[in-house]
Amino acid sequence: MAEIADHTKVLIREFSEDTDIEVVGKLERDCELESKKGFSIFTSMMGDPFCRIRFYPLHVMLVAELLENGELVGVVRGCIKHVGTGSGARYVIGCILGLRVSPIHRRMGIGLKLMNSVEEWLLRKGAQYTFLATEESNTASTNLFTYKCNYRKLSSLIIFVQPVCSAVEDPMPRDIKIEKLHVDEAIFLYKSRLRSKDIYPTDIDVILKEKLSLGTWVFYFEEQGWINLNSQESSKDTAGETQSSWIIFSIWNTCEAYKSHPLRSLHATLSHATEKIFSCLNLPVSVSMQSSFGFLFLYGLHGEGENVGELMKSVWNFASRLGQTVKDSKLILTELGLCDPLIKHVPKDSDMSCIEDVWYGKSLINHADDKDELLVKGSLGNVFVDPREF
Ligand SMILES: CC(C)(COP(=O)(O)OP(=O)(O)OC[C@H]1O[C@@H](n2cnc3c(N)ncnc32)[C@H](O)[C@@H]1OP(=O)(O)O)[C@@H](O)C(=O)NCCC(=O)NCCS
Repeated sequence: MAEIADHTKVLIREFSEDTDIEVVGKLERDCELESKKGFSIFTSMMGDPFCRIRFYPLHVMLVAELLENGELVGVVRGCIKHVGTGSGARYVIGCILGLRVSPIHRRMGIGLKLMNSVEEWLLRKGAQYTFLATEESNTASTNLFTYKCNYRKLSSLIIFVQPVCSAVEDPMPRDIKIEKLHVDEAIFLYKSRLRSKDIYPTDIDVILKEKLSLGTWVFYFEEQGWINLNSQESSKDTAGETQSSWIIFSIWNTCEAYKSHPLRSLHATLSHATEKIFSCLNLPVSVSMQSSFGFLFLYGLHGEGENVGELMKSVWNFASRLGQTVKDSKLILTELGLCDPLIKHVPKDSDMSCIEDVWYGKSLINHADDKDELLVKGSLGNVFVDPREF
């Protein structure tokens, strides 16, 4: 139990699905009503409070409860990931998501208390580092993370969002080949190629085999071919000098994730969230009127070669078309590190929204300086975005 600034006592405890679900829904709604962009609701309020963490074997949701009346005034989520880096090292990291404190209970130390409690939980579960992301303009959370919790700013990622209904109907260029990979090929290719990423999930096989993962595709130019899976070397053009251009990506279907949740009591919340999201993103009314809602998330995006720009345009076109065939899918989303070379090739149509997130990290244990690889490197620049967080 924590004694906080105004002598109100607060208990930090685990969320109970039986008793807390509606209250947490209201709490998050109250937080979102005062938020300008309303984007975070998008990922945390789809009627399933665990939606962003449920696919991790180890996850937790903590709530802050006022002892005087049992009111829930804060919430935070945490999950454990296993990642690797280019150097071959393996780490257990904790991710902290969806920290919220009710607007009228702020600046009383509740946010800090929730952060300390979720970090303790992550440490107990073996996390060596913790990471979290927030918008650069969010002064409250930036101050909380940096000044009070000692997080270090690492890098920025951009989330790209586009409504499916406005998908461009460009025909697929004839010289571009599309191959859907068998899941084992995809695992192999990611494992061999992801090592060039700053951080990648070592359980990529689990992600790709999850039923929400619709598949993995490779795009390349017919005349160039693409990498040779056996040699793991890029193929050469006829002159034997130029590397072929190709892109790999997978698609995660959130529509099914939300639909499968057994609790129907949050449908009102869901519609509310949908309205909020769509109005914030300036999406067409025809889309925002629909209460069933989901999106396709492009993850594992990795491209090589000089002509990735052209391929990226076709990848986006392909994903939008696929979105039109998946029930309840209203948006296409992807997230890329600011240093990722693909970032400048995402088509910037007029209805595309971009949201910039800043990543912060800290070590939960003492490392010798030379071992503090994740933070010393400090970039997370081309981080492989984990679809389970969406
Ligand atoms: C961010 C948030 C969780 C902080 O919760 P809180 O309970 O008010 O935070 P605390 O009282 O524990 O504040 C701890 C420190 O954070 C910083 N802080 C909190 N609110 C702040 C504000 N409005 N302006 C500047 N700094 C602020 C201060 O350093 C503060 O310490 P101090 O009060 O001694 O100066 C809360 O503002 C919130 O729910 N915001 C909306 C949701 C959100 O942005 N979540 C974070 C992104 S995931």
